[in-house]
Amino acid sequence: MKRINCTIEPDYFEIFAVELNGYGFEITKREEDRIEFTIYAQDEEFESIKEMVEEIFADIGKGKVSSVENISEEDWEEKWKESFKPIEIGKFIVLPEWEIYNGSDYIPIKIKVAMAFGTGLHPTTQMMLKLIPEFLEPGDSILDVGCGTGILAIASAKMGAQVDAIDIDPQAVEECKINAWENEVSIRCFLGDVEEIDQEYDVVISNLQMEIFQKSFDTLPKKFRKYWLLSGIFQDVEREKILNLSREYNLKLVRIESMQEEGRNDHVWYGFVFKRS
Ligand SMILES: C[S@@+](CC[C@H](N)C(=O)[O-])C[C@H]1O[C@@H](n2cnc3c(N)ncnc32)[C@H](O)[C@@H]1O
Repeated sequence: MKRINCTIEPDYFEIFAVELNGYGFEITKREEDRIEFTIYAQDEEFESIKEMVEEIFADIGKGKVSSVENISEEDWEEKWKESFKPIEIGKFIVLPEWEIYNGSDYIPIKIKVAMAFGTGLHPTTQMMLKLIPEFLEPGDSILDVGCGTGILAIASAKMGAQVDAIDIDPQAVEECKINAWENEVSIRCFLGDVEEIDQEYDVVISNLQMEIFQKSFDTLPKKFRKYWLLSGIFQDVEREKILNLSREYNLKLVRIESMQEEGRNDHVWYGFVFKRS
């Protein structure tokens, strides 16, 4: 296992995070003039991840890899344990797998491993977790596009839905399977791109990013029967882009949610629910 330590100016960090496309990172220091963060990579994927990170820095024209460290699997697990505490979100409580929940006020979602995106800490995941119980009915067929750890797919399955979950990242598909097993729910997790969805579902859930929505707006609105829950939209500019696209494709806005990033009042994320007009 390797740590890829990076640094970038705060104003460019969000652009970088979006470009990283859901890959997990840990912020180690926030200063006025820079953010330091670490990306963890398995040895076999290290070269390709480092190359991808450097390409993003080159595209943005900001940021750099400052150092690379070898760490043992055990050290990484310890670090991960320190940083992952139970969190209550809507009807759910998201827990690391070593925590036991004995209460009855929340529905537990256990996350066993998470190199992929989706520990429940990000506002985009949290908005979706709040919307899922409201818009899903037991027995609904659901597609979670970009499942990451499988957190939203598991929440949907716990609401009694029949769930398919796809991701373009093999690591995410693997983690989704492990986490589904850990939560004792049945989910069909498989490798797949948003462009390749070949069937309709009652509800489509997608916490992706603006660039992917822009490319897939021709296909995604045709894949749901009841609702489309969408998140991953950053700041007002992207919110307007989504609203314009939804009008163009005759979708009716049922709900719009917003949430600020912790400690960053100027970083606002949006979530939407659409149905057909
Ligand atoms: C922001 S994460 C969301 C993870 C999780 N669903 C959550 O809400 O916390 C986005 C996920 O979408 C996946 N992804 C990116 N592009 C995709 C595409 N074209 N088709 C399917 N999945 C994609 C990424 O690999 C990543 O796991």
